[in-house]
Amino acid sequence: MTQLREIYFCEICGNVVEILNEGAPTLVCCGIPMVKLVAKTEDASTEKHVPFVEEVEDGILVKVGQNQEHPMLENHYIKFIEVLTCCKVYRQELKPDNKPEAFFPVKKEEIIEVREWCNLHGLWKS
Ligand SMILES: [Fe+2]
Repeated sequence: MTQLREIYFCEICGNVVEILNEGAPTLVCCGIPMVKLVAKTEDASTEKHVPFVEEVEDGILVKVGQNQEHPMLENHYIKFIEVLTCCKVYRQELKPDNKPEAFFPVKKEEIIEVREWCNLHGLWKS
């Protein structure tokens, strides 16, 4: 059964879906069940994926890669960064020529989860 804010991925066409209304038994795309993405929290590679939150004036700056920026290439980049609070989901969509970071007008103590999706390496959270 789907849950609010879960993210699903189609392994055939690459479709990504976020649940806005929970309760469906299965999501199907391209004739097969979509895979629920479980956000990873540790990155052993040198290429960092875990979102890093920095408090700035009037909000937070989320960077993907604390000391080393995640690549933003045509075939490998951060597609979006999301900040989840009790009753809002903030999403910054990114393109390959953007920096892998985003500002959100959110207080750090309001954050339930920060997550990002890399088109090659999947979903990551902090
Ligand atoms: Fe990546």
